[in-house]
Amino acid sequence: MRRKLVVGNWKMHGSRAANAQLLAGLKEAGPWNADVTVCVPFPYIAETALALTATALNYGAQDCSAHEQGAYTGEVSSAMLADMACRYVIVGHSERRAYHAESDQLVADKAKAALAHGVTPIVCVGETLAEREAGLTESVVKRQLAAVIHTLGHCCGEMVVAYEPVWAIGTGLTATPAQAQAVHAVLRAQLRAATDRAVAMRILYGGSVKPDNAAELFAQPDIDGGLIGGAALKVADFAAICRAA
Ligand code: G3H
Repeated sequence: MRRKLVVGNWKMHGSRAANAQLLAGLKEAGPWNADVTVCVPFPYIAETALALTATALNYGAQDCSAHEQGAYTGEVSSAMLADMACRYVIVGHSERRAYHAESDQLVADKAKAALAHGVTPIVCVGETLAEREAGLTESVVKRQLAAVIHTLGHCCGEMVVAYEPVWAIGTGLTATPAQAQAVHAVLRAQLRAATDRAVAMRILYGGSVKPDNAAELFAQPDIDGGLIGGAALKVADFAAICRAA
């Protein structure tokens, strides 16, 4: 039995004041039966860590460098995230693949760097609308996941995977539970072929998850929680999604 995981991805939103309110609201609204994590912008990690001390809520980052350390201006290493006691880091989000030209291999290298420091990578995969319409969904997500499996080797069982159809992110268009489950089953089968731990691995769904569609998505056999964008910025919505998990 896999425990559900709900991850709030704040993306490039927030301020010290707004974050303090959001975190206070979440602390008040919990606890939930699921594991709950917020992935916050880098400058706010320290304050988030402080705010969440002695709570059941975890926190993490939205990206990390594939490099260990060195002259990489603007980059943040996974050693630094570990130093800040981040539990998770999102890698390969479609916004980074699209706007920062991140390749499958770079995403895999980031996941490897994170694991090397004990930070669990949440590896995002997903197809664009054009790819779905061309019947390429399965081959795209399998290609993206294969790069990570190949690079992590036997450690691949330690990652979290997030399926996020690009056409569903921030658009209000959600994959139907059946559409999402079908892709999750493909990903689970691919993981099963790579690691004995596949049955225990969590595969999250992301893309316009809201309080009114969360329960049905999370009820699917291979959907183990959600990666939540917009709705993670509102206490009531995020709390309702966590309750549904
Ligand atoms: O990381 C989160 C996803 O990109 C989903 O974003 O819930 O705003 O559609 P969204």
